[in-house]
Amino acid sequence: MLDYKGIIEAAFEARRNSYAPYSHYRVGAALLCKDGTIVKGCNIENASYGLSNCAERTAVFKAVSEGKTRFEAIAVVGGSDDTQAKDYAYPCGACRQVLREFCSPEQLRVIVAKSVDDYREYRLSELLPDSFGPDSLV
Ligand code: THU
Repeated sequence: MLDYKGIIEAAFEARRNSYAPYSHYRVGAALLCKDGTIVKGCNIENASYGLSNCAERTAVFKAVSEGKTRFEAIAVVGGSDDTQAKDYAYPCGACRQVLREFCSPEQLRVIVAKSVDDYREYRLSELLPDSFGPDSLV
């Protein structure tokens, strides 16, 4: 089993940059790429609410734009700026689908964390069963 401490800490770091003046719900995500690097993302809201971007998608789009398209795991933390999160922050449906584009759903691990010691681990296939992906189009 992988040690998720590094990406959980990175997700908490990413959350510090969250721009959430409307919802006040701050989210951080950290993607562990297959090359061992970690790419962080936060939610970025907009006065035109529908243009807001989730933390997970920020991380995925940053990674892909830097040529990294293969991922082992993603950690997500949400809530206020404390070092402990009150609840687990599960990726929304749109983010699950965007993650699906770049992984085998049986392999990608999704870690939702309240702290480095308190987290839940899923495969993407558990959070997005019977998914539609690139292989559906061939
Ligand atoms: N949010 C995320 O960053 N990730 C999710 O998976 C769910 C929601 C953000 C979007 C918005 O800025 C705030 O949380 C409240 O919905």
